Amino acid sequence: MNLREDKVSEETKKLISSLPTDKDFQGNLCKYQGSWYYYNTLQAVINFHNNFQPQETDIILASSPKSGTTWLKALTVALLERSKQQDDDHLNHPLRSDNPHGIVPFLENNLYLKSSTPDLTKYSSSPRLFATHMPLHTLKEGLRGSPCKIVFMCRNAKDALISMWYFVCKYQRVEASRSILESLCRGVTFYGPFWDQVLSYWRGSLEDPSRVLFMKYEEMKEEPYAQLKRLAEFLGCPFTEEELESGSVDMILELCSLRSLSDLEINKSGKNVNGVDYKFYFRKGEVGDWKNHLTPEMESRIDMIIEEKLRGSGLSF
Ligand code: A3P
Repeated sequence: MNLREDKVSEETKKLISSLPTDKDFQGNLCKYQGSWYYYNTLQAVINFHNNFQPQETDIILASSPKSGTTWLKALTVALLERSKQQDDDHLNHPLRSDNPHGIVPFLENNLYLKSSTPDLTKYSSSPRLFATHMPLHTLKEGLRGSPCKIVFMCRNAKDALISMWYFVCKYQRVEASRSILESLCRGVTFYGPFWDQVLSYWRGSLEDPSRVLFMKYEEMKEEPYAQLKRLAEFLGCPFTEEELESGSVDMILELCSLRSLSDLEINKSGKNVNGVDYKFYFRKGEVGDWKNHLTPEMESRIDMIIEEKLRGSGLSF
């Protein structure tokens, strides 16, 4: 059996047989509510839809794969943690003993992948933090009208593509190369098409800016101080004057920097629940690294597709 098809119920198998199916460089995909999922992730999405009990204070960190999810998780944890930390307690900070992915689990990629009714008591402190790569409409179905805050982080498609290429080659040790590019351009990627997923959150943020915050990796890199303040304000935990004066923003940025996080023992030697080394989540963290990898022909092919798909939306990269 394909690794990705275990734990799929008979009912879901029946559903899959009625859905469009395709393959990417890793395995079989089916298209559900406009997005491509491996079969067992579709099962997890359905488990989430059927069983998740949202709380009004929940915060959902959504992102496109390889778009700075780890960074967003770390920053959010650090923002919320400051109300709990004592001045002399910084060595006990959760980010020093666990990877951001260990602290903020993916709804469909971790929790509901393992069980249709996962034990969420471990995440009982308020607000609960969860992550997802589902598009907004699919996420909302499981939130059942709850007014949870949703933060979405995206990144230009070319850098995310290169990041994915390195990630897949490291942990799967396969030569994925060109097929990743083909999958992106065809729109047949896990959670893709890329543009539909991004546009779902973009439109959601325009419709309801108090509920959906749209962030870009490039803007985080360009003006981290302003973007972190923006995130804090959105989450309802703005920095006080005293915190601003005492350098709290810079301290969080430093704690959550790629250099600091990747230097921690947990991130050098730990693994996530799916067995992937945490160190693979940290690489260069640069904007424009695609220039070192894509030919001009590949660049213009991706640019043309993305431009066409985003045209008229007001969103650009
Ligand atoms: P690169 O492969 O381009 O270096 P995700 O967390 O969504 O899987 O995204 C991974 C990308 O985010 C990788 O990009 C990784 O290096 C970068 N990244 C991880 N932690 C980061 C941090 N603290 N600050 C900035 N970028 C980070």
